[in-house]
Amino acid sequence: MALSKKPYKGCRDLFPENKRTQNYLFEMMKKTASLHGYEPYDGPMLEEVSLYRAKSGQELINEQIYSFHDRGDREVAIRPEMTPTVARMVAQVYREIPKPIRWYSIPNLMRYERPQKGRLREHWQFNVDIFGDNSIYMELEVLQVAVDLFEQFGANQNHFEIKINNRKLIDHFFSSSLSLNEDQSLKLYKLLDRVKKIKPEAFKEELAAFNLSGKTSELFSDYLKIGSHKELEDFLEKIEFPIEKWDYRSFFKVVNELGLSDYILYDPTIVRGLDYYTGLVFEIFDKHPDNRRALCGGGAYEGLMSIFGEDQLPGVGFGLGDVTLKDFLEVHKLLPSFTQQAPSVFIASESEGLASSVMKAARFLRKENLNTIHEVSKLKYKKIFQNANKMGAKNVIILQLNDSEKIQLKVKNMASGEQKVFTMEGLEECSNFCQQ
Ligand code: HAM
Repeated sequence: MALSKKPYKGCRDLFPENKRTQNYLFEMMKKTASLHGYEPYDGPMLEEVSLYRAKSGQELINEQIYSFHDRGDREVAIRPEMTPTVARMVAQVYREIPKPIRWYSIPNLMRYERPQKGRLREHWQFNVDIFGDNSIYMELEVLQVAVDLFEQFGANQNHFEIKINNRKLIDHFFSSSLSLNEDQSLKLYKLLDRVKKIKPEAFKEELAAFNLSGKTSELFSDYLKIGSHKELEDFLEKIEFPIEKWDYRSFFKVVNELGLSDYILYDPTIVRGLDYYTGLVFEIFDKHPDNRRALCGGGAYEGLMSIFGEDQLPGVGFGLGDVTLKDFLEVHKLLPSFTQQAPSVFIASESEGLASSVMKAARFLRKENLNTIHEVSKLKYKKIFQNANKMGAKNVIILQLNDSEKIQLKVKNMASGEQKVFTMEGLEECSNFCQQ
């Protein structure tokens, strides 16, 4: 039986037209990251599973990871995310390099997911991370990078919103106000993470397992109702949240001062599925009703260095996937169309036996930095122009034999219509003509 031509389930074949679009997304990511002083890094595609087991969480390990035993019986995984890798790399060098460390990457990741719109088994993810301290300024810097990227694409507050929460706040609320132990807290985190994905009855049913009663049950529903910064402040005062854990007043003040308040709002249901976050957590959502997916997710983490036996070096960062970003730009009509790059020169021959001369001349022109497409088989004059036009070539060169059987290069500038004839010895002048 013939093999399927389709790629593996949930993976994409990126044909040149798809790759052109993806390159545009990547270029904008790189540009935004470097404008903020972030440096590119990369890591291996395979990591030992223990790296993810340490802090990424059960969902990733049990349901999403592609893992296997290598020939040396090491348990390895194709990277499902980049944060553990960047933390591992930072742990090697952070003592020697100036801080804060600002790094970015665009890795290809694999997760065993149920493929659907906006969710595949393979995606590319823009990762932006800063390591240094755990101030609100680092958190806001990273949020600014994300906003700047969207603005570079022409998006604004009508197109996307950033929903934030803070793990310190939730931890305090769960342990001090709801008197939940660590295990129960973790379970309630997971339930909150799914609240918008499951039916209200199912949520209620699962919540019943936590035995919240009377005052604690009321507090929990008050928590879920927080919809504004004022309500958040009132709630935090009510539960006597120690402001030194998260200075939310300063955070929102700076949000205002930076002009980000149209983008950033508090949402009690944002908790994030990954275990390593310890402070700010956030997700960026598309506001378009046809694409209500998370475009980006991130947060602050303090303890990742400890898994490598190192001192604490807090980090904040985010991951932004190419699949949802492309859907976002498409649905808001912010994605330009890209055509194949037009060659500077299309070169072919009209006479028999000139293939190697065509290739030789093309090689010379490429060395002169002219993008050149060559055709080795003999073509009719009309066909040469048809092919060149299809590609949008700027110059057409036809190799012919003149009356004394000597090769000549007939060149036409397609925009001006100007024509000239050169010899193989005069390729330098021919190149100068094509550079015009
Ligand atoms: P994450 O929320 O798992 O975070 O993924 C971040 C973003 O990657 C999502 O919002 C989504 O755009 C995209 N994404 C994730 N999974 C898929 C998928 N199966 N198909 C398509 N797109 C997907 C992390 O991975 C964190 N490590 C991000 C981070 C960096 N936190 C701190 N630094």
